[in-house]
Amino acid sequence: MSSNQIWTHKGTFLLAAVGSAVGLGNLWRFPYLAGENGGGAFILIYIATIAMVGVPILIAESLMGRSSRRSPIMGLKHLTETHGASRGWRVIGWMGAVAAFIILSFYSVIAGWAVHYSGLMFSGSLAGADSEQIAASFDTLLASPNLLLAYHTAFILVSGLIVGMGIHKGIESGLRFMMPALFLILLIVLGYAVVVGDAGAAMAFLFTFNLEDLSLEGWLEAMGQSFFTLSLGMGAIMAYGAYMSSEASLTRTAIWIACVDTLIALMAGVAIFALVFGSGLEAGQGPGLMFVTLPIAFAQLPGGSILGGIFFILVIGAALTSAISLIEPIAAWLIERFGLSRPLSVGIMVAACWALGLVTVFSFNIWSEGTFTQAWFNRSPFDVLEFITNILMPIGGLLIALFVGWSLSRQEVLREMATTSSWFAVWQFLVRFVAPTAVAFVFLRTIPQVEGYLIPTVGAVAIIGGFTIGRAMLARR
Ligand code: PFF
Repeated sequence: MSSNQIWTHKGTFLLAAVGSAVGLGNLWRFPYLAGENGGGAFILIYIATIAMVGVPILIAESLMGRSSRRSPIMGLKHLTETHGASRGWRVIGWMGAVAAFIILSFYSVIAGWAVHYSGLMFSGSLAGADSEQIAASFDTLLASPNLLLAYHTAFILVSGLIVGMGIHKGIESGLRFMMPALFLILLIVLGYAVVVGDAGAAMAFLFTFNLEDLSLEGWLEAMGQSFFTLSLGMGAIMAYGAYMSSEASLTRTAIWIACVDTLIALMAGVAIFALVFGSGLEAGQGPGLMFVTLPIAFAQLPGGSILGGIFFILVIGAALTSAISLIEPIAAWLIERFGLSRPLSVGIMVAACWALGLVTVFSFNIWSEGTFTQAWFNRSPFDVLEFITNILMPIGGLLIALFVGWSLSRQEVLREMATTSSWFAVWQFLVRFVAPTAVAFVFLRTIPQVEGYLIPTVGAVAIIGGFTIGRAMLARR
């Protein structure tokens, strides 16, 4: 049973968690959010949130995994029972599983776009194309359900294959090969961008901290991104933490994960903006930054077809190491709960997730208009899925902070943390007070998007949420 399994090496948890953390969030989402929100100011808030909120919750989530040595859903059952805490906390495991399931369903479709672009780049079919042709090629991709489906299927199958081979032969071996290779590719792309692009302009854009440039929306966006990029609140870190060596330090590991993840996001940002500015293009292009603006830059630059192809391989690889961390928590639960074999559990998870991915695939074409989601919420079905995860992620993080900060027995937490009392006090303060407050802000940001229902929704959420959490924190079974 997977609960007795431990990573082969003390450092594998770090490798696996970095693999989970570094993904489309770093290469695709971070640069375009920075581009839309004024560069340096956004990054300042992002880094502050990672340090003050991300790292404490990362420690808390890996602690829950290692202490329970079970998949997230079973782990919460175990922790609430052994610590005499309210059963209500079990919702953390379930919510995380639902969020991971939904995220993987669209993550795989978007990773599929990168598969398409690596093909376009290597084949040279975009070389010398102008911006209109490239924008049109993106639209053509989105308009084709068959193409999107083929890439989505291929991507999710490969991810499933790795997880299906087990935590040692599949996940661990895969990561040990992929992570250094990806880092090497990033260095090559960065070197190329510095040589042919405008690295000075990129650095100025990313590291000029002008707080006035930042809207409230940008603040909140930076905080939301710090959650997504560290893979928090979805059980991925908890599932990997369950296999973590008892000797590894939770604090030191979490700080490493956050530093490497941030460094990679910044390296990707410098590379992408150096290429974009070097080609005289704009930074604030939104989600199209990677799939339209960047290909335009590659199309114009010397050696752009090859380097562009290599860049998209990096994107695919980084997405793959994140996708496997979304499969593992649910697959491990199926194994533990129903005694199924690993290949079968992974097969069930992947098949179900593939099916949900159809919603995203069709959102860009045959369901782009006229579905009930447009009629009811004024959003495409894909936007609704993304919106749901944007709500589940911060709530998951909030509950993890409160659960570990207030409800687990102090003795067990101290034993797992194995750190000096002053560091423990700092962490405890952050996880008890700072993180929950900050996350509540991120959460409230999503509410105004529910037009017309703002005040009643905020009121209802505050009352019900406050009451439930308060009761759970005080309750002993
Ligand atoms: N952290 C990943 C990224 O930045 O792309 C996305 C992700 C992976 C989120 C795994 C959540 C998760 F559980």
